Amino acid sequence: MSLFLCLFSLALYSAGSLAAPSPSQNIILRDLAVPRFFGAAANTTFLFHDVNYTKVIETQFSIFTPENEMKWESIEPEPNGFDFTAADEIVRFAESVNAKVRGHNFMWGNQLPPWVNDTLSATELDRALKNHITTIMDHYRGKLYSWDVINEMISDNTPNETFKDNIWTQKFGEEAMPKALTYARAVDSQPKLYINDYSIEGINSKSDALYSVVSSFLADGVPVDAIGFQCHFTLGQIPDTLQENLQRFADLGLDVAITELDINLMGPSNATALEQQAKDYWTVVNACVQTKRCSVWGVSDDHSWIPNGSVLPWNAEKQPKPAFYAIADAFEGKPEP
Ligand code: XIL
Repeated sequence: MSLFLCLFSLALYSAGSLAAPSPSQNIILRDLAVPRFFGAAANTTFLFHDVNYTKVIETQFSIFTPENEMKWESIEPEPNGFDFTAADEIVRFAESVNAKVRGHNFMWGNQLPPWVNDTLSATELDRALKNHITTIMDHYRGKLYSWDVINEMISDNTPNETFKDNIWTQKFGEEAMPKALTYARAVDSQPKLYINDYSIEGINSKSDALYSVVSSFLADGVPVDAIGFQCHFTLGQIPDTLQENLQRFADLGLDVAITELDINLMGPSNATALEQQAKDYWTVVNACVQTKRCSVWGVSDDHSWIPNGSVLPWNAEKQPKPAFYAIADAFEGKPEP
């Protein structure tokens, strides 16, 4: 994940008062995105510690996802021992800039503390999951737009296997996802409940598996409101069927969102690569804009979870890359650059 940068004030910070005004000074992506949200991963390691990062995210985005602060190992490191400090910081920051927050996440195979991953019986794990979801949703009642209740639970070996092998499926089998979704809805009916995953962006075996799982949830009354498409892409490899795929999930009555967009150059950051990256960003944002019920978000290069991939619309100097302008163009309905 990452964050979106750039701005007139940033250009002045980094280049001094004699610098020419940045051409991007009047472009505010969150405004261009309306009625959609334009978001970023927010990370307390950088928030208020890197002034340029903070300037960008407080200006350009209308929704934030805590990059790590609400993951199980961070927020409940010990049994029933909750630490909301870092997560609260992001929620307060978002409120101060009139932005929304996506909770991330409840059920995932990664970033679990050992006591959850290694030690509990099925009954104890069930109790721990319910307590985790209930305590956190109570704490943030009325404050969050949505929750990634489910993260990365579909297998990479579809169609042979539907669900990923992790502690949740080992203990609960195919009941794992419905359990978490049902607990979440019982606590608070307001936040939109998401299933979030990767490699489900195009029409393929994995997205087909998710489509059939979600269709059965809807038929059985399992609460789910939306699908998050992570969109961790490689340069020049945006699936042709992205828009069609978003639309088929939207046609089930679900919201769809681009949740973790970044595009890895997989090589040097030269003019040709940056132009292709701009086209790719345009393609993704345009697909979302063309899809009813879609919202989008993204984030910046130097603080990305993918080192050296130059994956974001701003460079390490916090200057806008061609991708920044391409995103603005897509929101404004202008053609691909
Ligand atoms: C990543 C964070 O960006 C890193 O800082 C952390 O070390 C590992 O997790 N899919 C997700 C995110 O849903 O939570 C992951 O975030 C990236 C992949």
